[in-house]
Amino acid sequence: MRTTVGIVGAGPAGLLLARLLHRAGVDAAVLESRDRRHVERRQRAGILEQGTVDVLRAAGAGERMDREGLRHDGIELRYAGTRHRVDFPALTGGRSVMAYAQTEVCKDLIALRLADGGPLLFEAEALAVDGADTDRPRVRFRHRGVEDVLECDYVVGCDGSWGVTRRAVPAALSRVFEQTYPFGWLGVLADAPPSHDELVYARHDRGFALLSLRSPSVSRLYLQVPAGTDADSWDDGAIWDELERRVEAAGAPPLTRGPISQKSVTPMRSSVHEPMRYGRLYLAGDAAHIVPPTGAKGLNLAVGDVVTFARALVHRRETGSDALLDGYSATCLRRVWQAQRFSADLTALLHRAPDAPPFEDRLQHARLERLTSCRAAATDLAEGYTGLPF
Ligand code: FAD
Ligand code: DHB
Repeated sequence: MRTTVGIVGAGPAGLLLARLLHRAGVDAAVLESRDRRHVERRQRAGILEQGTVDVLRAAGAGERMDREGLRHDGIELRYAGTRHRVDFPALTGGRSVMAYAQTEVCKDLIALRLADGGPLLFEAEALAVDGADTDRPRVRFRHRGVEDVLECDYVVGCDGSWGVTRRAVPAALSRVFEQTYPFGWLGVLADAPPSHDELVYARHDRGFALLSLRSPSVSRLYLQVPAGTDADSWDDGAIWDELERRVEAAGAPPLTRGPISQKSVTPMRSSVHEPMRYGRLYLAGDAAHIVPPTGAKGLNLAVGDVVTFARALVHRRETGSDALLDGYSATCLRRVWQAQRFSADLTALLHRAPDAPPFEDRLQHARLERLTSCRAAATDLAEGYTGLPF
């Protein structure tokens, strides 16, 4: 098989890149190790930054998002039994975010890719990228048991944090910056109408809690739990009781309970692989970086990377210049480190480390008080949350 851009992985990064390239008249092939059902059902992120929303619309992939997604103009912060709204448009000159699940973004992009004529191969597992430092990189892969080779001009590794493409960057040239947290998030999906129409981020002495949503009838809820917690060790009643305790605040609407349909624990870590490019191999999304989920930056960063690659490739075709392709890693990393900063700060602001000294608790409260009483501090949060322009 031969193509211009070989895309490994059909998560949001790979699927959106395929769509952007199709619109630009560049042919590409997508290899995905899992089946379509799995990709469309994997419960992950739920908040799209303003820039992501704009990109999906411009790519002709925003129709259902605009119909079914829920525009959010703010979030609520809760701590010490108090509630504080952060108004995004007022603080950012009109920016907002969209609650629209990653599962739905993937479903929309898969449908478009198949309508665009593919190729999008499910159950096609990339085994290795060869010749990344040549003009003809190749992806060796196994499709339903049969080994094959995809010959490309460029390979984009969109294969997530456990992917294989990163391994093609020689160890001597790679640096990985990492941080792990002593806690994770227990995330549940519940058939219960959200108790509040905006997201609620709560800091509590017992740990962080987040009230999010997937639709007017489905809630998505998270609890900070110690690292290594088994989701099955929490029964449904205990989850609701703990959520109720952590988000309690004067005048807050009561939490609506309902049957829990899914639960899992996500470990929390940060990592950045530098550089994000080696020869004609470009890493994008979780294949290059992981952020802790606080602040919902993971999917949005993946979008930023593939937009940067698609622009750089089109620039080359229009001008003959490789300058933007050569600058891909540096351009993406600037944004990635800003998102790392934002996610790490928000994580530190709202979570309680198991061995946090009382001094740290007081500091957290002082930071929250500053954030909720000073417009400049709130503006910084609102700008970070709604995202930098692409
Ligand atoms: P992925 O979505 O991981 O896609 C990579 C794709 O590559 C997958 O489909 C995978 O099957 C495929 N693949 C892997 N290896 C190969 C191979 N060898 N050959 C072919 N295909 C391969 N972000 C938030 O903002 N909020 C959240 O609540 C949140 N929760 C998360 C929960 C979990 C369990 C995880 C893992 C991530 C979560 N994230 C969350 C982060 C967010 O979902 C990711 O940042 C986003 O999915 C990145 O998209 P991606 O396309 O780069 O990678
Ligand atoms: C969701 C996840 C996040 O990490 C976040 O900060 C907000 C919302 C969600 O899955 O809905």
